[in-house]
Amino acid sequence: MSSIKKVGVVGCGTMGSGIAIVSARAGYETYVVDANDKNLSSLIKQSSDFFNKSIARGKMSADQLEPTLHRLHTSTVLQSLSDCDIVIEAIFEDLQVKHQLFEKLNQICPSHTIFASNTSTISITEIAGGSGRDHRFVGMHFCLPAQLMKLVEMSPGLNTSEEAFQKAWDFCVSLGQTPVKTQDTPGFILNYFLIPFNNNAIRMVESGVAEPEDIDKAIKTAMGYAMGPMQLIDLVGMDTQKLLCQAMHSLTNEPDSACPPLVKRMIAAGHLGKKSGKGFFTYKDSKMFGA
Ligand SMILES: NC(=O)c1ccc[n+]([C@@H]2O[C@H](COP(=O)([O-])OP(=O)(O)OC[C@H]3O[C@@H](n4cnc5c(N)ncnc54)[C@H](O)[C@@H]3O)[C@@H](O)[C@H]2O)c1
Repeated sequence: MSSIKKVGVVGCGTMGSGIAIVSARAGYETYVVDANDKNLSSLIKQSSDFFNKSIARGKMSADQLEPTLHRLHTSTVLQSLSDCDIVIEAIFEDLQVKHQLFEKLNQICPSHTIFASNTSTISITEIAGGSGRDHRFVGMHFCLPAQLMKLVEMSPGLNTSEEAFQKAWDFCVSLGQTPVKTQDTPGFILNYFLIPFNNNAIRMVESGVAEPEDIDKAIKTAMGYAMGPMQLIDLVGMDTQKLLCQAMHSLTNEPDSACPPLVKRMIAAGHLGKKSGKGFFTYKDSKMFGA
């Protein structure tokens, strides 16, 4: 049983909003902070839509809706996280920006608070090094979309205490998620596999081998995957895909991990994927949620 009672989430974008939903759904009072007020308003609307779909599909009872929504508290002020037992960071993938945030959190949160980062590519030990509490710092890498995907890759930094890691692990299980332990390396397990796989799909489009629809259809039909690579990349976002490629390529030096030129062109054109309404496919809205 987790000893954690209050959960903080910083960053309410693609990942943070899903993590907040997972936390509130599991019964935790969840305090979400984002620098951008618009993202916080959109969380309330999108989580209500998500939970209503869950009710319609029999995955949640109707009388749970209001209490679950009431467990989501939003603010643009970091101070609102002052009595959280764990704070999960899901802000921009930039070491300096993350250091600045954790320095502030270290002043605000009590000494028992565990800090977790959802980073995909930056070393947990490096982020922890600028936090002022590297012994209570863990990597907690949720998958997109967090409210639907069970996997969480958990990694200790070099100075993470066993006690803090175990506490974060038990908390992850209490969320209803499935943790796996990995070393503190870019890509962890999933992206080590997925980056070259996705890049090969992008290169097929680039060289005219097949259309995105047909690539997804082939992979889903043959391999039983719920989602094809083109749809997945649109969800991940072209900008994030580029960062992931750079990190993996610097680690493995494998040509398959290098960012395909088409990704860079799509970023320049604003075709970031679902969040901008256009990527390999076109979207009527940029909502990232399903039930
Ligand atoms: N997109 C993915 O598929 C994916 C998957 C797993 C992990 N991640 C990781 O999760 C993290 C977030 O990625 P994302 O895709 O959700 O990014 P995003 O750009 O969608 O969201 C980031 C959010 O953080 C907010 N923010 C930035 N700096 C802030 C600060 N100092 N204080 C408060 N709010 C701040 C922004 O306003 C934005 O809403 C990154 O570290 C990324 O590597 C991303």
